Amino acid sequence: MCGIVGYIGSQPAAPLLVEGLQRLEYRGYDSAGLAVLGRTGTTVVRTVGRVRGLEAALPKRLAGKVGIGHTRWATHGPAAERNAHPHRSEDGRISVVHNGIIDNATALRAQLTSAGVELASDTDTEVVAHLVACSGADTLEGAVLEALDRITGTYALAVVDERHPDRIVVARNGSPLIIGVGDGEMFLASDVAALVRHTTSVVHLDDGELATITATGFRTFTADGEDTGRTPVEIAVAAEDLELAGHEHYMRKEMLEQPDSAEAVIRGRLDERFGTARLDGLNLAPRELRGFRRVKILGCGSAYYVGQLGAQLLEELARVPADAEAASEFRYRNPVIEPDTLYVVVSQSGETADTAFAVQEVKRKGGQVVALVNVVGSTIAREVDGGIYLHAGPEIAVASTKALTNMAMAFAMLALLIGRVHDLSVADGKRIINGLKAIPAQIREILDQEGEIAELAREIAGSQSAFYIGRVRGFPVAREGAQKLKEVSYIHAEAYQTSELKHGPLALIDESMPTVAIIPDDDLTDRNVAAAEQVLARKGPLVAITHPGVDLSHLGIRSIVVPRNEPELDPILLTIPTQLIAYHAALALGHDIDKPRNLAKSVTVE
Ligand code: F6R
Repeated sequence: MCGIVGYIGSQPAAPLLVEGLQRLEYRGYDSAGLAVLGRTGTTVVRTVGRVRGLEAALPKRLAGKVGIGHTRWATHGPAAERNAHPHRSEDGRISVVHNGIIDNATALRAQLTSAGVELASDTDTEVVAHLVACSGADTLEGAVLEALDRITGTYALAVVDERHPDRIVVARNGSPLIIGVGDGEMFLASDVAALVRHTTSVVHLDDGELATITATGFRTFTADGEDTGRTPVEIAVAAEDLELAGHEHYMRKEMLEQPDSAEAVIRGRLDERFGTARLDGLNLAPRELRGFRRVKILGCGSAYYVGQLGAQLLEELARVPADAEAASEFRYRNPVIEPDTLYVVVSQSGETADTAFAVQEVKRKGGQVVALVNVVGSTIAREVDGGIYLHAGPEIAVASTKALTNMAMAFAMLALLIGRVHDLSVADGKRIINGLKAIPAQIREILDQEGEIAELAREIAGSQSAFYIGRVRGFPVAREGAQKLKEVSYIHAEAYQTSELKHGPLALIDESMPTVAIIPDDDLTDRNVAAAEQVLARKGPLVAITHPGVDLSHLGIRSIVVPRNEPELDPILLTIPTQLIAYHAALALGHDIDKPRNLAKSVTVE
């Protein structure tokens, strides 16, 4: 989704802005643009499509050393050059890039129009450029503050002014913004990915904060002009982590990284002696953990499906009632917040607007909220009372894989910890710990079957639609499998509880409708096999994701066999083949796997 970059220093800004925008491409966008302040004024170039198109459109001589850039994901008005950022004031003096949504843009556009301003775009952002330009303040900071006074909504904003060419003024409210501190130069970005090649020394702005950035330093302050005195922190992301490293796609690279990333999330967190987990970052003492009578999990998309898997783990291991809900629904339904419920939000990016708003809703009503988050220092990570970092490393592909696996691992540790302050025995705790420790090697075993799984995926790629079915522990696996197939292969896929098949969807089964059935070796195997037979009886092609010992060959069912772990942890492994199926179906269909159409890596608007 929309990305912001900025540069001020001693080098020509344009190539650095272009490179920064390329680093943000993975987030999804439809147009791009930049503004560079030079001796003779501001040069603004905007194009629809990829950043390389923007690069090609730049004038040869563009020497200015101050600039801002943007990748846009259309919200107000279609993807068109006039709607791409930066937006300018009528006289071209002020240029603005913006992430987020200005809620009162319609009213402000009407006011500006009746004041005689000619609007050049359909966007909400353009009003900011005009409001800053209209201000009578002597300083750019003062003009930006006056403009912000009239705006409601969410924003990360960067503003440059020809009258003050020595600075970029930025503001944040509900959309991430990070300053990168260099030596005699400063960077600006909405995502660290755009900065790490130049600096790992960063300042994360908080909501309500502004900053002035010059070539030699920065000052952070509040809307009341009070200094917030932020100091830079070092981030652990290395530039190499963001490279393809010889892989054709980030999605494949990230799937293959899972044995290592799954190892990283449990490292130092398993207490083998007492059969429990050490999750100090939660900031919850055993007595507090004991006091929670329910757990409510909130996330969006795949994170929500892993949340369902987490709820199942919590109920099984901790015997605490738990459920998961889409954060995007929760925040709109005036939810009842209970004092004895632990709210757990889950998010790879830590920037998903719907999830961040759910956090605020819980906090506003006095609830206790912790987070499972991958991106260190992200909005959600900083807003919650405590949490578990996922340590999956940077995830670039839009389709999430390794972060989801680590979310499930983290839920297992949370369930283990809460279980052990209740009635889970030491022996059972140790059993789960051994299971968790076995997972990285078992993921490697599944990844080794990529060739055979790819073959099955190519068959599915020939279909218009597919079903994914599973029950109880297998249902979140089916939901995530269907989601992944839809996202990258654009094949319509639906997940059903296996038990629900006969209550309606069976009508759709014929030779053209493949089904992927999750059939673990557990107390429901016979029922799952019976449902598979009903599919076969209607000539539906069927692939089973199953365990050793579940012999389906006599039925003519092709199987992907994953190693057994502890029954509670099996869903983590059963999910891995669904990633490979989606990837190879998309590959067979020739899609842009890392940047699926219409999707963004981090959905920072509502
Ligand atoms: C699926 C996917 C999305 C995200 C969802 C939440 O592959 O990537 O469904 O899971 O948008 O994103 P985060 O986890 O960043 O909050």
